[in-house]
Amino acid sequence: MKNIRNFCIIAHIDHGKSTLADRLLQTTNTISEREMKDQALDDMDLERERGITIKSHAIQMDYVQDDEQYVLNLIDTPGHVDFSYEVSRSIAACEGALLIVDASQGIQAQTISNLYLAIENDLEIIPILNKMDLPGAMPEEVTDQIVDLIGCDPSEVIPASGKTGLGVDKILEAIIARIPAPEGDPEAPLQAMIFDSVFNPFRGIIAYYRVLNGAIKKGDRVKFVNTGKEYDADEIGVLKMDLAPKKAVNTGDVGYIISGIKKANEVKVGDTITTVENPCLNAVKGFEDVKPMVFAGIYPVDTEDYEELRYSMEKLQLNDASLVFEPESSAALGFGFRCGFLGMLHMEIIQERLEREFDMTVITTVPNVSYKAYLKKDEELVIVNNPSDLPDPAKMDYIEEPYIKASVITKSDYVGAIMTLCIEKRGEMTNQVYLTQDRVELSFDMPMSEVVFDFYDRLKTISKGYASFDYYPTDYRRSDLIKLDILLNSEQVDALSALVHRSNAFTLGKKICLKLKELIPRQQFEIPIQAAIGAKIVARETIKALRKDVTAKCYGGDISRKRKLLEKQKAGKKRMRQVGRVEVPQEAFLAVLKLD
Ligand code: GTP
Repeated sequence: MKNIRNFCIIAHIDHGKSTLADRLLQTTNTISEREMKDQALDDMDLERERGITIKSHAIQMDYVQDDEQYVLNLIDTPGHVDFSYEVSRSIAACEGALLIVDASQGIQAQTISNLYLAIENDLEIIPILNKMDLPGAMPEEVTDQIVDLIGCDPSEVIPASGKTGLGVDKILEAIIARIPAPEGDPEAPLQAMIFDSVFNPFRGIIAYYRVLNGAIKKGDRVKFVNTGKEYDADEIGVLKMDLAPKKAVNTGDVGYIISGIKKANEVKVGDTITTVENPCLNAVKGFEDVKPMVFAGIYPVDTEDYEELRYSMEKLQLNDASLVFEPESSAALGFGFRCGFLGMLHMEIIQERLEREFDMTVITTVPNVSYKAYLKKDEELVIVNNPSDLPDPAKMDYIEEPYIKASVITKSDYVGAIMTLCIEKRGEMTNQVYLTQDRVELSFDMPMSEVVFDFYDRLKTISKGYASFDYYPTDYRRSDLIKLDILLNSEQVDALSALVHRSNAFTLGKKICLKLKELIPRQQFEIPIQAAIGAKIVARETIKALRKDVTAKCYGGDISRKRKLLEKQKAGKKRMRQVGRVEVPQEAFLAVLKLD
């Protein structure tokens, strides 16, 4: 146990976490030069392209220093606010953290919130100044930032470069010297914490855990404390480049278990594994059942693909327990599913995976948060995950919406503009702290729904990219919300409805109509676009009819041309949906998210 080191990496996206992790794997001979792919830790194509570690993984390295044999467990953490609970569990499984900061960029908001989490969990922090090879590196300034933040000595900051290999040996030495060995009682009953799980099509769910006390042995009858389910530990072992089966995984170590579990939602991150025969007294603290934050409808472009979509979603859910869905129907779009996601990025990822891995073409409707509507009668509570489910305003007493605590870190030049944006988004500034002379952290409370509506892009634009954003949900607050409906060709399109604050309703209605006019192609006839609150029309635009019937040419008998056109359309995956008589492209359903 004294020669085990468990650590994670805290870094902002693109600060070089994967590159540096690969260097560690290489230096410890965990991975050979030949095996070395660009980024060994990110094994999904999608992740590599996006440069975001969606799911945390773990890997074990053997390392010899001064004739002592050490076991280093690197636990990877996803670097996005949508996955912050998983990050918190990964951090809880470690004794130390490498804090990687891009020497040309400095510290970003996401880094800071994860850093705070690590400090709260008493992790030993090893600060690393990465990308030192870049001509734009600002070692003094960024070292000052780090020293300010964690109160270390400047000499503790390790200059490094994943690209040239600078500093890698120093990092390994620091891991051994500074990170404490795990504690725990090897004689106690088994207590292990699950920090991640992955789906393997042949073996089912593989759960990753950290053993806090006792040992897990092959063949044990084990129990997952929070779900209450029991399994046989068919195979256990540690994680090298591949799974390495073992007879036992002992106190302090990180391992995996395969026990014939088929569904991701049976394995909950944060849950405790113990044995049925000799169970531990307490579950590991900090378990949370993660709830989706953002909801949207997903519909097949072709109504006939509904069953196939259901099949694909079920498959997706097998390896992504955070995805929830239930059937719903829309007057405009027919049969589809109301899906719950951890956040906006998670929603984009699911949509992309449906298209890439399952070859589905889908329409995603306006995302929304989960509202609470209280009825006048008996104060009955209705959870509203779809604006169309909002009860009749006459019967409603009031509505509550979820609030978040948001943190933005930016350069002082942009503080004014960001404060203006925050107020426009119904936010309330709660704090402003200068982290360094030029870097400010702004904290504010604001409705979660405003993050869904075009927040990231606006923030990026007004700060010229020099702002990072992080948030966590706090509470529900009463709000003056109303349903804004959209009518196309005089027919209400339920999939375009949104709940908005009364004070914004007119402006938003106007903007949405304008945006839709831009996005919906002209058709054979004139299409009025209207925004309405109840029976009252608050905005109107008109899409003029096409002057000449250009498509008619294609249908004039030249069948090969028609087929060619159809094939071309199919190849281009034109996501168009017929709504009443109007052809509506996918972008139009998300118009409300991208208003200028
Ligand atoms: P996420 O997976 O998105 O969290 O990113 P990451 O932090 O893992 O960063 P990654 O290792 O993928 O590196 C991001 C980019 O920076 C890539 O284009 C790397 O080639 C580049 N990069 C990484 N380390 C260095 C470095 O030390 N020097 C230079 N010049 N570039 C680097």
